[in-house]
Amino acid sequence: MSCRPLMKEKLYNLAVNNIISNSITVGLRLNLFKTLSQISSQKNPVLPEQLAEAAGCKERYVREWCNCMACGEIIEVNEEEKFWIAEENVEDLTNGSFESVINGMMATLLEPLDQLIECFKKEGPYGLEYSQFSKFQEFMGVMSQALHEKHVIPDMIPAIGNGIVEKLESGGVRVLDVGCGGGFHSSLLAEQYPKAHFVGLDIGADAINQAKKRKTKSGGIFNNLEFIECDAGKMPEIWTDSFDLVLIFDACHDQCRPDLCIQEIHRVLKPNGTFAMVEVLGSSNVFTDKATMGPLAAMMYGCSMFHCLPVGSNCQDALCFGAMWGRKRAIELLNKCGFPEVRIVDTPYFPINVMYCVQKSN
Ligand SMILES: C[S@@+](CC[C@H](N)C(=O)[O-])C[C@H]1O[C@@H](n2cnc3c(N)ncnc32)[C@H](O)[C@@H]1O
Repeated sequence: MSCRPLMKEKLYNLAVNNIISNSITVGLRLNLFKTLSQISSQKNPVLPEQLAEAAGCKERYVREWCNCMACGEIIEVNEEEKFWIAEENVEDLTNGSFESVINGMMATLLEPLDQLIECFKKEGPYGLEYSQFSKFQEFMGVMSQALHEKHVIPDMIPAIGNGIVEKLESGGVRVLDVGCGGGFHSSLLAEQYPKAHFVGLDIGADAINQAKKRKTKSGGIFNNLEFIECDAGKMPEIWTDSFDLVLIFDACHDQCRPDLCIQEIHRVLKPNGTFAMVEVLGSSNVFTDKATMGPLAAMMYGCSMFHCLPVGSNCQDALCFGAMWGRKRAIELLNKCGFPEVRIVDTPYFPINVMYCVQKSN
């Protein structure tokens, strides 16, 4: 019974942190942290009405938000009920980092909560549609940028090996991004390697519509990047043996039939072509995950339960992997689909990922 007070305290703290976390999301969506950092400091704290005015919001709502953020020790308050962000916290609250953006995850994933509860039940539906998460693609784009932007070009692409950087730079290379979502990675790569041709593929119409709006950094139109709405388990026939490099960023585990997708990737790769799959970290054993990943494992199993699992379970013959399918299952799947040798590349610069690299034989 000695555990009871501890659990009570834990439950209470979780509830408090949940509310603070969701309030952070409100601040991020409305640019309240950025605005507060621009108009205030410890020497020059501001009233909620000043923040509201600068952010184009209503004073009463902004005051409640400030009060919650200050009591939650995210921003500072003085006796005159004026607010500011401590200098040492400005960067973390305003730079779009993974640690701040991740607070928005649950607001996005809880949209079809009632329907998810039904999925658990024996007679309930198989799973959920992507379209039941109306803000998912938008959120995923922001998350991918926060997680990957700084390291795709300098770290991840060179780590694929097989002379891939030289090939991308020298031109004539065709690259496929499977499950490209809103096209963040494809466009980042297309900008960096203008002589290579990139194709982003996704099953979601909203994802592809979002991707097609991507512009170069200077606001121009890409001429080496195209997007196609297509099931990764059924790619165009004419693509056989046509890609030098196929990439997946966090988009295998949440497909209903990832096996068909990997078989298709094997088909569309040129002989000797390379497939690099960035996927969620995990060992395929929850005991090991708990021991090696700690709270990150809880977060990823939870995200999986709210989103990856239901969207990847949404038909009778779905494999129902979930985000934490892990190394063992990933290697088994790659082996089964024609890639006997799998090189696992640790990607410590991507805090929730690992990369699997394989080659099609000659
Ligand atoms: C977690 S999101 C990752 C998106 C993007 N790669 C990123 O990292 O930002 C997974 C993506 O896989 C796509 N997807 C799911 N099943 C698919 C399928 N069978 N064929 C093609 N894309 C699929 C979804 O529409 C979604 O955009």
